[in-house]
Amino acid sequence: MENKVIVVASTNSGKIREFRQMLEPEGYTVKCLADYPDMPETEENGTTFRENAVIKAQAVTDRYGIEAISDDSGLSIDAFNGEPGVHSARFLGHDTPYDYKNRVILEKMKDVKGEDRGCHYTCAIAITRPGREPVVFEEICRCRIADEPKGENGFGYDPIVYYEPLGKTMAEMSKDEKNSISHRGKAIRDLEQWLQHEEEH
Ligand code: IMP
Repeated sequence: MENKVIVVASTNSGKIREFRQMLEPEGYTVKCLADYPDMPETEENGTTFRENAVIKAQAVTDRYGIEAISDDSGLSIDAFNGEPGVHSARFLGHDTPYDYKNRVILEKMKDVKGEDRGCHYTCAIAITRPGREPVVFEEICRCRIADEPKGENGFGYDPIVYYEPLGKTMAEMSKDEKNSISHRGKAIRDLEQWLQHEEEH
């Protein structure tokens, strides 16, 4: 049987890598916006992860008349009242390197101790199809802000996001470890189950 093509409406290489790691072994071919260079940038003006995920996928569905998937995700820090949250990519500037963003967060949190260093990642994955209502899967992963950056894997805020049950930051995990517990890993598994169910009916 031919692979089913999944178009992920994103140019974020860290995200796309994780979609590929999880979906390609299951027989899917993952495409992304690099495969659709004439797709204009979509303004993410929603106030929730869910809204932004639908906006990004729907824009691709509307332009090309195809099924599309998108991921809107971010890091919410308890001590910052949930910020950067939906603004995670834009926090301190879209093109600012993450080692700088991470150092600023650690500095701002230098007097915050123990339980108060709580945070969570959220991932909302939307699937949109022509003439159908969007479907969204949303998952979180509860963590805390590490005392110092550690690890080279993953992307973005991963070096400062410490996952207590494994005793390491997201950037110290192997790809399989991260995918097994992460917000995105869980949401991709929800999506996969839904896709399988749709194919059977
Ligand atoms: P979006 O492309 O607007 O959804 O922005 C997502 C942003 O959230 C990323 O650019 C990262 O800053 C952050 N983020 C989401 N998921 C992860 C993750 O798994 N690791 C590290 N950073 C993440």
